[in-house]
Amino acid sequence: MGGNFQKVCRSEELRDGYCQVFRINDLSICLAMDGETVYAFDNICTHDGGILGEGKIEDHQIECPRHGAKFDIRTGEATQMPAVVRINTHEVKIKNEWVFIELTE
Ligand code: FES
Repeated sequence: MGGNFQKVCRSEELRDGYCQVFRINDLSICLAMDGETVYAFDNICTHDGGILGEGKIEDHQIECPRHGAKFDIRTGEATQMPAVVRINTHEVKIKNEWVFIELTE
């Protein structure tokens, strides 16, 4: 598989439209199932440190429960104020029903 991919969970553990938070190498990472696709991003809002894993996913976006900022989970871009800085996303691969993510610095 190459790169710095880490095994996280089985894909059947994830539910469409919801996030699940995993601790990997001291990082808190959200895995979000959106339709058939799994996305991974850091579990922290760039506005003021809100916990994104407690937010909801709608229209490919996660909404921060603290002040309502939104981010596109496909790209990490901030799509609604008060956040303006993108969240850090991670590449996801699924192999034999296992979800792997690539950790970046
Ligand atoms: S901490 Fe996320 S919107 Fe303010």
